[in-house]
Amino acid sequence: MKEFYICNCVQQENKVITSQFVVVSKQIKAKKNGEPYLALTLGDRSGSVDAKMWDNVEEFLNAFEQDDFVKVKGLINKYNNRWQLTIHKIRKMGDSEVDFSDYLPKTSKDIDQLWAKLGEFVETMQQPQLKQLLKLFMADEEISKAYRDAPAAKTLHHAYIGGLLDHVVSLFSSCDLIVRNYPMVNRDLLFTGVFLHDIGKIHELTYARSFGYSTAGQLLGHMIIELEMLQKKLALIPDFPPELKILIEHLIISHHGEYEFGSPKLPMFPEALMLHYMDDLDSKMEAMRAQFERESENESPWTSYNSSLARPLLNSRKFLEKPNPVEEPEPAPEEKPEFETETMAATAAATEPDSVSQKSLLDLQSHFAAKKNSI
Ligand SMILES: [Fe+2]
Ligand SMILES: [Fe+2]
Repeated sequence: MKEFYICNCVQQENKVITSQFVVVSKQIKAKKNGEPYLALTLGDRSGSVDAKMWDNVEEFLNAFEQDDFVKVKGLINKYNNRWQLTIHKIRKMGDSEVDFSDYLPKTSKDIDQLWAKLGEFVETMQQPQLKQLLKLFMADEEISKAYRDAPAAKTLHHAYIGGLLDHVVSLFSSCDLIVRNYPMVNRDLLFTGVFLHDIGKIHELTYARSFGYSTAGQLLGHMIIELEMLQKKLALIPDFPPELKILIEHLIISHHGEYEFGSPKLPMFPEALMLHYMDDLDSKMEAMRAQFERESENESPWTSYNSSLARPLLNSRKFLEKPNPVEEPEPAPEEKPEFETETMAATAAATEPDSVSQKSLLDLQSHFAAKKNSI
């Protein structure tokens, strides 16, 4: 087990640490004088941190790639209110030195219990063919194993092992309540959408070493993958009503709610509209919760800039508990926010390659070397 985790940066401020990380991203950039430096994002199960190696980097440029595990000695400090690791030494680790559980964050909830809860919600459904459809998915060993393991996103929300299941069970709970206030909403149809809307993430994302996008994820996205998964299961149910099929397909392809977030159609019936808003709410609330948890040690009720919501956040509970003069939130960093909310998730995969288009040739070489390694 590692001794230092990224979430403990605050205790190690301005200290030199030695620890192990997974390389989430690697770029070779140029200093003003033209010399190269390394700009990395390093991760472990507690989070990720920007890391820079400024001096004598030539021998390290090709010593490791994205998704490799590295042992690092460096200084922890803050830059623009973000933790940063200034690397003194770095070396690639062999697989035998790696304990994978150190690197992938995992839900603190009991995955067996979440899975059982999902089954309980499905059991409450009345419409026999919709219930049968979801039970076919749950009985598929390959799908059920992946559904229990997959994160709900790469970095956006519920970005941890078990995150997809956690997100879906949370969404079932919310929808089970809100549906009671809107009699026109068909509960079984809504539940079918909740169960299936992100199931394609089991193939869209990779989550064995670090979280990223698969080739199918990059090229198709989870909604298209879901349509294919749906067809396969529907073929096993004789006389499945075509009207229900088309409604499920619309639930899937419209759940991001906006064209710019990857939905080819806007939600056009009550269950689709409700699925979109409840999904968006659940992902954003989780993004807030996670940010408050990451910065729980901070005195100020203001968090640093949250790239998923594109704003700094106020921890209202902290604010009310400790009424003292409130500092202004940190100004937003100049860089473009990453794609970090559920509705933006679909565009993230497609946007990633574009994000390198303005960078130097060195960046591009590094990017594609890293990509090649990750696919
Ligand atoms: Fe989605
Ligand atoms: Fe979702």
